[in-house]
Amino acid sequence: MIPAGHNAVMASRREPPDSLDFFPTPPWATRALLRHVLPRALNGYHLASAWDPACGEGHMVEVFAEDIAIVKASDVFDYGRGYAVADFLDPGTTMTPRPDLIGFNPPFKVALPFVRRALDMTGCAVAALVRTAWIEGVERYGELFRDHPPTLFAPFVERVPMTKGRWDPDASTATSYAWFVWVEGVSPLAPFWIPPGCRQTLTRPDDRRRFGVAPPSAPLLLAAE
Ligand SMILES: C[S@@+](CC[C@H](N)C(=O)[O-])C[C@H]1O[C@@H](n2cnc3c(N)ncnc32)[C@H](O)[C@@H]1O
Repeated sequence: MIPAGHNAVMASRREPPDSLDFFPTPPWATRALLRHVLPRALNGYHLASAWDPACGEGHMVEVFAEDIAIVKASDVFDYGRGYAVADFLDPGTTMTPRPDLIGFNPPFKVALPFVRRALDMTGCAVAALVRTAWIEGVERYGELFRDHPPTLFAPFVERVPMTKGRWDPDASTATSYAWFVWVEGVSPLAPFWIPPGCRQTLTRPDDRRRFGVAPPSAPLLLAAE
């Protein structure tokens, strides 16, 4: 089980150390996973549960909760939002029963161990939001892609701006991102390009209030375990 976290909701924001790579995910990018990418990879399987083990302030996991009935969240840093506090790379951090989906936007330097660990712990699927260039690299090839090619490599056609410490809905970026998805028992599919227009169509009118510069201090989720 995830070690007990701090469930008290704090009134003020807490700033994580730079080394933790806290770059919140724009909500529309997670909706693109749920609406466009996973349906292509899951082969009809219905996701009943999900876990974001690097949830930060909840920008991704709160969007999981829009579509998935049972959602868990944890992070190595206590952002004061009531989510469990746990190091995903600690062998003692587990989740029972296994969640159908383990999905995350991992810290860049430990993205590889994150994916490997998630593949060991998922009940069905793993989804990682990483730079498109992550698909190359000798180390990643040897330690992951050669024996565990993703079921679906899904680059965004549009850019997904991520800014340090907060979601800025008006930001831009030169960096390209993609979802990498592994589904147990489903062989690799042809790449899928996440179509243009998602940033607009998958952004909801209340996203700025829910996830923007000064989001509410309490999580929308039920208490994390
Ligand atoms: C790029 S942010 C993603 C935050 C959030 N999931 C989102 O999409 O908005 C990476 C997160 O990983 C967390 N993190 C870094 N190392 C971790 C570890 N070993 N175990 C769990 N979380 C970790 C950071 O605190 C940070 O919140």
